Amino acid sequence: MTTVRIKDLPRHVGEKVTIDGWLYNKRTSGKLQFPIVRDGSGYLQCVVFKKEVSEETWAAADAATQESSVRVTGTVREEGRAPGGVELGVETFEILGTAPEYPISPKEHGTDFLMNHRHLWLRSSKQHAVLRIRNEIEKGIRDFFYDRDFVLIDSPILTANAAEGMSTLFETDYFGEKAYLSQSGQLYLEPAAAAFGKVYCFGPTFRAEKSKTRRHLMEFWMVEPEVAFLEFEGLQALAEEFVEYLVTRALERCQEELKTLERDQSKLENVKRPFPRITYRDAIDLLASKGMEAKFGDDLGGDEETVIANSFDRPVMISRYPTDIKAFYMQPDPNDPSVVLGLDMIAPEGYGEIIGGSQRIHDHDLLLARIKEHNLPVEKFQWYLDVRKYGTFPHSGFGMGIERCVAWISGVPHLRETIPYPRMLNRIYP
Ligand code: 4AD
Ligand code: MG
Repeated sequence: MTTVRIKDLPRHVGEKVTIDGWLYNKRTSGKLQFPIVRDGSGYLQCVVFKKEVSEETWAAADAATQESSVRVTGTVREEGRAPGGVELGVETFEILGTAPEYPISPKEHGTDFLMNHRHLWLRSSKQHAVLRIRNEIEKGIRDFFYDRDFVLIDSPILTANAAEGMSTLFETDYFGEKAYLSQSGQLYLEPAAAAFGKVYCFGPTFRAEKSKTRRHLMEFWMVEPEVAFLEFEGLQALAEEFVEYLVTRALERCQEELKTLERDQSKLENVKRPFPRITYRDAIDLLASKGMEAKFGDDLGGDEETVIANSFDRPVMISRYPTDIKAFYMQPDPNDPSVVLGLDMIAPEGYGEIIGGSQRIHDHDLLLARIKEHNLPVEKFQWYLDVRKYGTFPHSGFGMGIERCVAWISGVPHLRETIPYPRMLNRIYP
């Protein structure tokens, strides 16, 4: 007997197959039982007819509780009304592992309860759909860069440098030396860009952010491209091409998941290039016109981002931020040195900043001066300065936190549902 994955069953109509999975739900009406089994690939309605099965099979189907693991054998039949268009006429039904009082039932549970049971919550249809979308986005990211001839550079997780400011570092002891969990792979990509031209990294990053918002995780996955000789215009073009690609890919390949999540897909269908581009100064004026107080030099918080995003029907790119509020490595705008060639891409519908990037300072002495101004330890940045010492070149890159992108595409309000095991303020269990 062949064991078949549920999603492949339409190709086995009329055949006898075995399914291994878990009991999702069950309906009974007299001499008929309708267990619904899931196996991670889909849901299958099974039909157990008392007259056609052994006593053991009838009793097992009757006794199986929610999330018991089961092995079911039977014949695949076409059934237009069933999920997936097929059902299984059961011959044998066996319980492999019982599940006493499964804690997550279809009734409403509080967030804390669900987060404490994250290891089980993953089995629920919505969580399953979000993580499948994440899987598609991750594959899309790798395909996008591979197809465009970028080389994957795995950046280290233990590092001696602070890439994005000292205040959000997770510190650890490295045989008597101070080390930090990486906030970004960018610094390590810049030398690699000189070796390969076009590179990217994609891995976990860490920020000890004392902020308890729906947009922040302590551990998140970031994809970061870095391109030699790419200047700011080209960087913006790359960012919008990348985001359009990922959204299109999810629309093409995640229809079932988006339906499970009841995502309004018309909003995603708008996400076509060109994306609107505004400057930070435009953003301040826009906020003022909406009655929000903001002046040059203020950082844009979540509320400000949402007001700006709501003025557009697709992601918006904000550029040329004041030098003082951005990272030490950003290239000054040649037309206005009080601002930098940095860009944030803000997603629609209140999902906030999904991309942050910039052209990098390629002048050795200016970079050295910035490292000192930011009170960073110069000796730890010698290798980074070397990129400007040996054949310097203009270059640019960005980082996208994939949980924010997945939350937006999936339409789930909180980042905690977009990563299998979220690390949040005051939560590291399970
Ligand atoms: O804007 P950020 O801090 O930029 C960098 O780290 C650059 N070094 C990237 C680069 O140019 N190579 O972070 C980039 C993105 C943000 O736009 C956001 O999507 C995500 O990382 N991000 C977070 N996601 C979840 N939780 C957090 N605490 C995040 N902090 C940043
Ligand atoms: Mg940022």
